[in-house]
Amino acid sequence: MQRIELAAGYEISRVIRGGWQLSSGHSAAQSEDPVADMVAFADAGITTFDCADIYTGVEELIGRFRKRYADLRGAAALAAVKVHTKCVPDLNLLPRLTRANVAGIVDESLRRLGQERLDLVQFHWWDYAVPGWLEAAHWLDELRREGKIDRLGGTNFDTAHMLAIAESGVPLTSMQVQYSLLDGRPAKEMTDAAAAHGVSLLCYGTVAGGFLSERWLGVAEPAAQLENRSLTKYKLIIDDFGGWALFQALLRALDAVARRHGSTVATVASAAMLRRPSVAGVIVGARNRSHLSANLAISDLALMAGDMAEIDAVLAKANAIEGDVFDLERDREGRHGSIMKYNLNKGAA
Ligand SMILES: NC(=O)c1ccc[n+]([C@@H]2O[C@H](COP(=O)([O-])OP(=O)(O)OC[C@H]3O[C@@H](n4cnc5c(N)ncnc54)[C@H](OP(=O)(O)O)[C@@H]3O)[C@@H](O)[C@H]2O)c1
Repeated sequence: MQRIELAAGYEISRVIRGGWQLSSGHSAAQSEDPVADMVAFADAGITTFDCADIYTGVEELIGRFRKRYADLRGAAALAAVKVHTKCVPDLNLLPRLTRANVAGIVDESLRRLGQERLDLVQFHWWDYAVPGWLEAAHWLDELRREGKIDRLGGTNFDTAHMLAIAESGVPLTSMQVQYSLLDGRPAKEMTDAAAAHGVSLLCYGTVAGGFLSERWLGVAEPAAQLENRSLTKYKLIIDDFGGWALFQALLRALDAVARRHGSTVATVASAAMLRRPSVAGVIVGARNRSHLSANLAISDLALMAGDMAEIDAVLAKANAIEGDVFDLERDREGRHGSIMKYNLNKGAA
């Protein structure tokens, strides 16, 4: 597993295990022993875990994993484990958000994770029309300077807001965004802006909830309700990308590349994103360890120019997804925004 230094002395595995699938908000059946699964991921080299204050129950699970990992493997092994959480104040709270609310969210994450200092906090703001996002970013930076947080990042900010935060003096280590072969929005402006400010992109959606895998190759367009909220969300991206026929053409191209490398569609889809400028890591969601070996192979897969040309030939026929990062999702009346949940942090504030 390749590792990368996001900032001086702050190193992560380039494949990050996503935690949303373990939350009670995700409908699919979960692992019987999620903590043992996390030990298996860390032992295999995927030592970075993504979660959030709003992924119900997941910070607690990772807290239990950290304790078990220290008991099993010792303090030095635990030190290589990084937990990337988020600070996502509820939409309803934004107009009256205080520093104490933000500090409360951070304290709650510290308690659940069993940490004295959070490794990376990724800040999210639901609505730019509500003032306060820059002030809140600075409150988080104060908490960082007080020692409660090691590194600060953002998630789902567009390029202009990311720049405003960085240029106001908040040291942004990373920006977590949806970025995949289907959704190229960050490539429009964000990748250059991130490079100019030393911000690393951490990408989610690289396997589109599982759509970018053999499971959907040659399968008819689903007509019924999909199995979970992730698939519902990524199906909208497939529609905007160019529809089911073009998506199937992409799967066929990925499958051809995968077969040449003895790999899988999902591994190729994530590996292709690790090659993109400014991308430090891919966050791949997992309910259990069933895809561990495929996802472990991502960073070592040596895609060749011919492989990329075959994939790019399909992407050349696709529509660009509208807007900058997360613009579609911010429109709460729109197709993408109307399926999201905006008030999940009730306990913390
Ligand atoms: N900042 C944000 O707003 C935001 C938004 C979304 C996600 N995230 C983070 O990013 C993580 C990943 O994104 P995501 O939730 O959108 O999910 P994702 O990574 O696009 O999809 C995860 C699902 O894809 C399938 N999968 C994973 N690896 C596979 C492989 N090698 N082969 C075949 N199928 C595979 C699995 O489905 P099955 O288990 O059904 O096989 C898995 O549950 C989340 O867990 C979360 O930590 C953040």
